[in-house]
Amino acid sequence: MRKLTIAIDGHASTGKSSIARGLALKYGYIYINSGSMYRAVTLFALENNLLELLDQNIDLFIEKLKNISINFKFNKNNLISEIFINDRNIEKEIGSLKVSNLVSRVAAIPKIRREMVKLQRNIDRNKGVVMDGRDIGSVVFPDADIKLFLTASDAVRANRRHKEMIKNGITVSLDDVLNNIQNRDELDSSRSDSPLIIDKDAKVIDNSNMSIEEQIDEISRLIEEKATN
Ligand code: DC
Repeated sequence: MRKLTIAIDGHASTGKSSIARGLALKYGYIYINSGSMYRAVTLFALENNLLELLDQNIDLFIEKLKNISINFKFNKNNLISEIFINDRNIEKEIGSLKVSNLVSRVAAIPKIRREMVKLQRNIDRNKGVVMDGRDIGSVVFPDADIKLFLTASDAVRANRRHKEMIKNGITVSLDDVLNNIQNRDELDSSRSDSPLIIDKDAKVIDNSNMSIEEQIDEISRLIEEKATN
């Protein structure tokens, strides 16, 4: 079967990464969670007291960013591509509400997006790639073989995300999670650089009432049809 590029975009907390990871494992593709990259940059800014630079001297911030490496390593034990800054695994830290509340602001900065898109396009696509985010089908890989746009009701998304955060040991109220999701959607959709849009070639999946397995089955049919034609 031909190896494909699969772009999964959509609203916050629609299970994009679970679907993307499931598909990558099933087909032996590389999986990249582009949201983790913007979260890594946000964590880097927070931990190094660089928030002021974001508004006042973005060029200096980008210079500092270029001194670190943001990369993924596949963890064979949990089958997750985990994100690292240099040699430090930051998978847990990037899920905090502090990072979540700031990440859309960071991701709206064009010079930061340019650096992240460069990294995303560096990936060797010959092995097949599933990448999830907000602008993958519209900007990063406009030539993707399959473009998906995931959405679900606000309440369903907040509940799912809240459960996941509690499971990861993060204490947070359901209301705070709901507010965060709604604010991020608003910021991500209204920014001027690479806003979250439904690409004209994207298939929209509302997964409010669908399990992960049902979605993977539906998308697998698209993949197998495309890869054999
Ligand atoms: O997928 P996520 O929720 O972890 O993404 C975190 C934030 O990063 C999201 O609110 C918007 C931003 N993002 C983006 O602007 N472009 C992407 N390709 C991926 C994420």
